[in-house]
Amino acid sequence: MDEPLPEENNSKETPISSFYPCIIGQSQILLDVFDIIERVRNTNTTVLIQGESGTGKELIAQALHYGSERKNGPFVPVNCGAIPGELLESELFGHEKGAFTHAIRTRLGRFELADGGTVFLDEVAEMSPMLQVKLLRVLQEKQFERIGGTKTIVSDFRVIAATNKELEEEVAKGRFREDLYYRLTVIPIKVPCLRDRVADIPLLVDYFIEKFNRSKKKAITGISREAMGYLFHYPWPGNVRELENVVERMVLLSHGECIDCDDLPSRLLKPEHRVEHSGEIPRQGFCLSEQVAEFEKRLIVQAMEQTGWVKNRAAKLLNVNRTTLLEKMKRYGIEKDN
Ligand SMILES: Nc1ncnc2c1ncn2[C@@H]1O[C@H](COP(=O)(O)OP(=O)(O)OP(=O)(O)O)[C@@H](O)[C@H]1O
Ligand SMILES: [Mg+2]
Repeated sequence: MDEPLPEENNSKETPISSFYPCIIGQSQILLDVFDIIERVRNTNTTVLIQGESGTGKELIAQALHYGSERKNGPFVPVNCGAIPGELLESELFGHEKGAFTHAIRTRLGRFELADGGTVFLDEVAEMSPMLQVKLLRVLQEKQFERIGGTKTIVSDFRVIAATNKELEEEVAKGRFREDLYYRLTVIPIKVPCLRDRVADIPLLVDYFIEKFNRSKKKAITGISREAMGYLFHYPWPGNVRELENVVERMVLLSHGECIDCDDLPSRLLKPEHRVEHSGEIPRQGFCLSEQVAEFEKRLIVQAMEQTGWVKNRAAKLLNVNRTTLLEKMKRYGIEKDN
């Protein structure tokens, strides 16, 4: 950790993509995220990455680790949601031989294994209240005991946590400790969902076509404009992961060299995802008010989905009165599961 940093990583000018090229995107909202990564990667500060499932939270955690002076140390991911409470405690802190029935030998925990590196606490909102207390203590003191042990273990690790829940809401509902929340969110990074950065879709599609051409030994050259139109208008609830899976499937099953509409999965072909025009006004013209109404409808549905169909919050997001929002929803026949 005390070694001097390599030139390229020490430079403030180094853009994120030069040392971590696989986070694809150029939308302003993602560039803002790159900017935060750039500024905090070489600090030891705790970072909380929040974003919907499949937005790239783990990629960002890796970028922070491999872009830091800790890059030669271990990157140790722990999925707090996938490991049951009792096991998670021993995963994180380790245990001494005989600490409990099945503890046949001493086992090092992930905090100890991450000495000189980074612990990535994924799905941190799922941690039990008891473990939240223990985590808070570790974050404050950087030392702990293995389960059943008395020796104090000191380990030099950085913590990066991630969640796809609104942690503020979990705190408000009393499910997540407020003091731990503040401790984790020294630097919060909000990863934008894909429907908020549709400008990145063509870049991602090209990147994934290339990737799957290579791994599946295919020679797909691209995607038709019309098919791309559907990708622009689909809401991508599974974000980049879902797009990656869709491209993988299309590369495998495509009938021609170029991906076209009949290669798209049927859920993307629903009429509401169809594009009337591809950003250009057709030669025969179109009805402006219809296009505007269609756009307005889409934005309202998007705002409702983004706010879990809570009308007050959606109205706030769109900067309109609740009554205006209700009127428009009624006019467009917008209902949940519509
Ligand atoms: N900007 C991006 N560029 C390239 N690939 C991306 C990007 N964002 C995500 N991916 C890819 O999408 C998939 C999902 O990313 P990742 O696992 O980081 O998401 P996540 O936010 O951690 O999801 P979850 O909440 O479900 O754990 C991975 O295969 C990842 O490589
Ligand atoms: Mg993840």
